[in-house]
Formats: sequence, structure tokens, C-alpha cells
Amino acid sequence: MMTSKEIRDSFKSFFASKGHQIVPSAPMVIKDDPTLMFTNAGMNQFKDIILGNAPIKYPRVADSQKCLRVSGKHNDLEEVGHDTYHHTMFEMLGNWSFGDYFKKEAIEWAWEYLTEVIKLDKERLYVTVFEGSPEEGLSRDDEAAGYWEKYLPKERIINGNKKDNFWEMGDTGPCGPCSEIHIDIRSDEQRAKVDGAQLVNIDPDVIEIWNLVFMQYNRKADKSLDSLPAKVIDTGMGFERLCMAVQGKVSNYDTDVFQTIIKAIGELTGSTYRQDVKKDIAMRVIADHIRTIAFSITDGQLPSNAKAGYVIRRILRRAVRYGYTFLDQHKSFMYKLIPALIDTMGDAYPELIQQKTLIEKVIKEEEESFLRTLETGIKLLDKQIAETRAKNSTVLSGADAFTLYDTYGFPLDLTELILRENEMTVNKSEFNAEMQKQKDRARNAAAVETEDWVTLKEGNTDFVGYDFTEYETEILRYRKVKQKNKEYYQIVLAHTPFYAEMGGQVGDSGWLMNEGEEIIITDTKRENNLAVHISEKLPKDVTATFLARINIKSRTATECNHTATHLLHEGLREILGSHVEQKGSYVSPNVLRFDFSHFQKLTDREIRKVERYVTARIREDIPRVEMRHMPIAEAKAMGAMALFGEKYGDDVRVIKFGDSVELCGGTHISSTGRIGSFRIINESSIAAGIRRIEAITADVCEDYFYTQQDVLNEMKTMLNNAPNLAQTLRKFFDENADLKKRMEEFVKEKTVQVKDALIRKKQVHNGVDIFVLTNSIPAEVVKDIAFQLKGQFPQNSAFIGATDSENKPLLTLMLSDDLVKDHGLNASQIIRDAAKHIQGGGGGQPHFATAGGKNVEGLTNALHEIMEKIK
Ligand code: ALA
Repeated sequence: MMTSKEIRDSFKSFFASKGHQIVPSAPMVIKDDPTLMFTNAGMNQFKDIILGNAPIKYPRVADSQKCLRVSGKHNDLEEVGHDTYHHTMFEMLGNWSFGDYFKKEAIEWAWEYLTEVIKLDKERLYVTVFEGSPEEGLSRDDEAAGYWEKYLPKERIINGNKKDNFWEMGDTGPCGPCSEIHIDIRSDEQRAKVDGAQLVNIDPDVIEIWNLVFMQYNRKADKSLDSLPAKVIDTGMGFERLCMAVQGKVSNYDTDVFQTIIKAIGELTGSTYRQDVKKDIAMRVIADHIRTIAFSITDGQLPSNAKAGYVIRRILRRAVRYGYTFLDQHKSFMYKLIPALIDTMGDAYPELIQQKTLIEKVIKEEEESFLRTLETGIKLLDKQIAETRAKNSTVLSGADAFTLYDTYGFPLDLTELILRENEMTVNKSEFNAEMQKQKDRARNAAAVETEDWVTLKEGNTDFVGYDFTEYETEILRYRKVKQKNKEYYQIVLAHTPFYAEMGGQVGDSGWLMNEGEEIIITDTKRENNLAVHISEKLPKDVTATFLARINIKSRTATECNHTATHLLHEGLREILGSHVEQKGSYVSPNVLRFDFSHFQKLTDREIRKVERYVTARIREDIPRVEMRHMPIAEAKAMGAMALFGEKYGDDVRVIKFGDSVELCGGTHISSTGRIGSFRIINESSIAAGIRRIEAITADVCEDYFYTQQDVLNEMKTMLNNAPNLAQTLRKFFDENADLKKRMEEFVKEKTVQVKDALIRKKQVHNGVDIFVLTNSIPAEVVKDIAFQLKGQFPQNSAFIGATDSENKPLLTLMLSDDLVKDHGLNASQIIRDAAKHIQGGGGGQPHFATAGGKNVEGLTNALHEIMEKIK
């Protein structure tokens, strides 16, 4: 039986023998495409070529690509685990032709590979072809059907509709009919009973393994189709399903791709696979998700609270939750599966071995934190259940269930499970309505409408920004974009000095100029490898020649930060050790941010050492050495630092400043001396095992020093230029604390004295003891005295304060409870009436009220009025 590794290798060598260049898998996490978070098909890394934005390097290519289908147009997440053939992460085997061969060869080779190389049973194979679509004006794909007829009887060539047999990359862009190959994995007995042809696209026992896409159209924004100038073959075969078919299994999880992991799960949790339906689902979920999580971490995407990181966090939580509910795992355990994953995939993907410790740490910490959330969520649900019961209902509201889902990561089925144990249900339609509302909110926030490109000239952009800061050029194409209440234009130039945001470095801003006008470019983004210049306005004459000029000041500031980032990287490895690996970076004119693997907080001493290391390199004024087209092998031999998960062509650009050698596409300052100064302003943790440093350079750094100096100078003046500021300040603090303490003691003594005096001077009217305080005294003391008196004289007593403090009058009235209850007095009302004398207002409760005001002179009259009412 062929192993999965042999199957993967056989695919590559077969297509190599047909003249295909074999390329490595691109990273699963996508960094520079705003339209896509994860690679969801083999064709993603060739999108630029398919769209005509990048030159065709090899007309025939084949590979095995790590894919993830958990968001956007292709999302299989909810199926995973419940069936035996969907995955979050999977490998897609693919072959491509860019303007070279088309349907005939694609079909011929697919058949040859399946039936002659890996020897699948021909009798079990079925294919589908596009049936056509009258409303699109497209007829049946007779061409493809014709080629299939060489190998298969007509009954096994089945028509398929637009949903299954017309593949589109997105809402717009290249698309075309496709032809799928399905295999019948049922027993001979079952096959004899029901013809497999009837089960294609209906029963998963006749399962799709390979999709051959014939891209011949371009879908425009108005939904019409144009024909594509260079036709493209894009095929994708599900590797795990292929292994299932070749190894004669009925489930992907029974192949050697998953069995080691499933066994490890069984051992860790004390469960046996295929004994209990629910447990099996949980084991499949965990076996699937652990791959996704581990590979996204090696690709540089850690679980987090936003965007791609949040998708990964939710997948991890889904696995934890299945483990919790069905395998009784109430402690972290998934991180212990990494050795089993390495056993299966470490050979093909050595990054798993290299980053083992990091992967385990991140997963363990995420598991633990989610388990804590789960406990909290379960407590909340218990409370919701009690409240629902109190209302004599057995149906939990959809809003409650949604809160659990949204805030505590409780999927509806977990809530339902717990409810069932309590003989309750949930209002599902309410829950769905809440869910829909949230989706609508997200959609409205993200909605971007793009019009079709207006093409003035064919061709691609020539980036001249490594050598020029301004360049004479023309517009190739432009389009209008609407986002929320904003409208702007995207402009593509024939030549551009503008750096388009990539690899952490922000895009350039600047101007497009000619005699007539000056258009401001606010930013430059990269979309499908195109540098798009963002502008609120279009030039009056779009066909004119322009001088494209970047904002040199902010570019230079950015370059200082970018070069400093390389020096920082080098310094961290030097001082902390070579386990430090870049995990992310952000370089703008104002600040640089660098994320890296390291397991504890940097000490102040280490931070200083790193700063000194970078500053020493700045002083050495090391010149930039740039190697623009270096074969990747040579660059690696030089010791160039390459990140896992970055997509590099065969030729790379290398940036060297002394010992710092990195693969990098960004722009850098000509020599380190120009950076001037460097300081780390923040060091923090962003995830388990990942630290973040923020630092500043050049002018920003100088301004930072000035601000610090200004603060110091101000303090010096305040402290009469004391020679040792810190010591003097410390003395002040100590004195202050001492004073405060003595003050409190003093107030306490004073309170007792004042109270005793009041008791001595008390007046009695109609059997009621009245205490009157008229001193200048702080409000807290008055209140304190009032409550003490009430404690001492709980019946038939009243306290009236007409006091002032710092020139503010204060009226206070405290009544014993019997005066309120039996005599209907109301302190709040009395105080409010009296407050007019001091031009103020206030209130409180029937037994205690206060009022502040503006007029100290009015206190006597106010006191008089209150007195009268009490008497
Ligand atoms: N791009 C095609 C797919 O993903 C092959 O199915």
C-alpha cells in the first residue's frame, strides 16, 4: 500500500515528467492580500499571474499546497468532524498551465495519473462537466466531455450545474467551467445494488477527489463575462481524500495522515476510536484542528482577538470544547499531540520540528485560558437556567444563548446539550435572528464596492522606488472604490517610486504632478501584487504624463525605522540567543514594532544592552549593501535570515548591514549613521512565548528626549534645582505621608472635641434633642459627627449643620428614625427648601440630607428656617 508521503511524491514526479516546474507550498496564512486571510486553494499563490499582474515565469507548474477553508467564500468548518471527508486544513495537489496547454492535456494527464500511476480502479471513477447556463449565454462544455469520452462511457460523464461546475475565484476575476472527478468508495455489493452515477454530488460515498478548472472568462463588476486572453488550467485534488481512495479506506481519518494523531488522542484521553459516535466526532475534530493550529503558528499567525488570529482562536476553542464535552478533558491536553503531528508531517514540513516548543506553549496557554472562560460561561448558563425556570418557562431565550455564543465561545450545540440535561430547550429562531443581525453588522462595516478597472494602457508597473524618489510616468489604469461613506480612487502607474505596503513597512504617500495640477496620494497599498496608489481625486487629464514624487521626509523616517528593525533583530539574537525569531513587524515613519519568540520578559538590563548594541551599530555608520537578484540558495548560504511562512520567489533581495543579513523587500537608509539615535519605548507580551518591542529612531527619538528633558527641567525648577532630584522627591513623599497621618489623627481628636461640645450645648424642644454645629469644618467631619450623634441618641434627636469649609457653605440635617416615621419629617425636603438661602441645592434621604451652595452669608437664615421646622 502506498503511504501518504509516496502518494504526494508520485504526484509531483508525474507532473515534473510532463514538463512542470515543482514549486513549494506558499504559506497558509496570507499577509499581503486584503481580500483573503488564508490560502484556500492551490491557485492563490498564482493569482497575480492569472490576473496578468505578474509575468509568467514557468508556463507549467505543480505543487502540494497547505490550504485552510474556514472563512469567506469557501468555509467547511461546521462540517469538520461530523463527516469523514471535510477538513479545515488540507493539502491540495495541483497542476497549472498559464497560457500553455488547456482542456485536452489536463484531462489526459489527470486520467493517466489516477489510473496508471496510482492505479485507481477505472470502474469506480465518474466525471462531471458543465451543463451550460442559458442566462449567462453559455452552452454545455462539449469540448471537455469529448475528451472524457475517450476514457469513459457516456453514462459516467454527468452534467453538472453552475453551482458545482463553474468555478469562480471570487465575486469578480478569472473563472470558468470545471470538470470534477469522483470516486465510488462503496463495497462491490452496494455498487451492484445502486449505480454510482446516481450518487454523484448526492451521496458522499461517491466522493469528489479532483477538480479541473478551465479558466477562460473574466467576471466583471457588472457580473458580465469577458473572455480571458491567456487561458489557464487550475486543478486541485484533495490529498487526504486521494490517500483514502488509494489506501482503500472509507474515511480520510483512517489513512496514515490521521491515524497516528487519532491514536495519540485515544491514549491521552482514554478513549477508543470507533466505539462511540459522539467521541468519534470529537476525536476527528481534534485531529483535524490540531493541524490547522500548529501550521498557522509556524506560518506566523498566532491565536488572537482580531481577524485571522481570531479565526484560529475559534478553531482552537472548538477543539477544546469537543474535548471538554465529549472526552471529559477539563485540563489542557491538546498541546501534548504535537509529537504525534510531527511524526506524521515533520518530514514534509520541518518548521513543525523547529518551532515545537513555541507551538506547544501557545496551544497550552490558549487551552487554559479558554477552559477558564468555559467555566465562567457554564456558571452564567446555570444562572440563565434558574431565571428562565423562575419565569415558569423551559425555553432559554435566543438572546441568552447568543450572549453565551458571542462572549464565551459557546456554540449553540453545547448550550443545547447542557439544556437537555436540565430538560430545557432553546429558542432557535431567536438565536438565528441574533446571529443574522451580527452578520449584517459585520457585512455593513466591511462592505467595499469596487467598480471595474478603466484601462488606459496595457502592461504592469515597474517599481523604481529602490533607486528613485520621483519618476516621470503615466497612468495604466484606475478604478473607483466605495467604502461606507468614503469614495476614493485606486491608480496604477507604469513606473512608480512609491513603495506599496508590504512586509510590515507602510506604503508611501506623495504626489502626482504636472503643470496643470497636483494630486495627493495618501497611501500605497498592494493588491494582488499591484501597487495601487490611493487618492481622493482623479487628475483632470488621466492620459497626461505625471511626475510621481514620494514624500521623502516620511520615507526617510520609515527607512531609519526599517534599518533599525534589522539591527534590533540582530541585537536580540546576540543578547538573548538564537531562539529569537521574528514573528511580525510594523515599520512606519513614527515607530517600529517588532514581535519575536522569547519566553520571558526582558529585564531592564537586557533592554539597555540591546539599545547599546543597536546604538553601537549606528555609530559604526555601516553602509547598506543591497543584493537585488540573488538565488535563494546563495542567500541562505550567506546566513540570510528568512522567515518561515514568507513567500519568496527563486531570486531574492538581500539587505546587509555588517553582520545583519536579511531577505527583505523593504527600503533602507543608506548607512546606519543616519538613524542617529534609537530607544526602546515599550516591551510587552502579545501571546504565550511572543514578546513585542516598540522603538523609535531619529527625529522622533530626539523629540522624545526633549519631552523627557522638559519634564525634568520643570521638576528641577519646582524643587529649586536640588542637586539630587530623586532624593529630594523621595523626601517630599515621605514628609507628605507623615503629614497625612498626623492630620488624620488630629481630625479624629478634633471630631471628638467638637461632638462633646455639641452634646454640652444641646437644645431641647418638645422633647427633641437638637444639636447645632456652625463651625468652619470639612464636610467629612460634619458627616462623621452627624452619624456618631445619631448612634449615641437614636431617638428624638436632630442634628443641624450650618458649616463652611474653604468658603463654601454646607447644610446638613440628620433626623432620628422616629422623627421621620412618627412625625412625618423629611430631611431631604427641609434641606432643599433651606438651600435657597445659600444659593444652592441638594437633597438625600428622609433621615439624612445635605446641600452645598455659594453664599456663606445665608447660613444663618437657613439654620433659622430649619430650626423652626423642627421645633
Ligand atoms: N481552484 C480549484 C478548487 O479550489 C481547483 O477547487
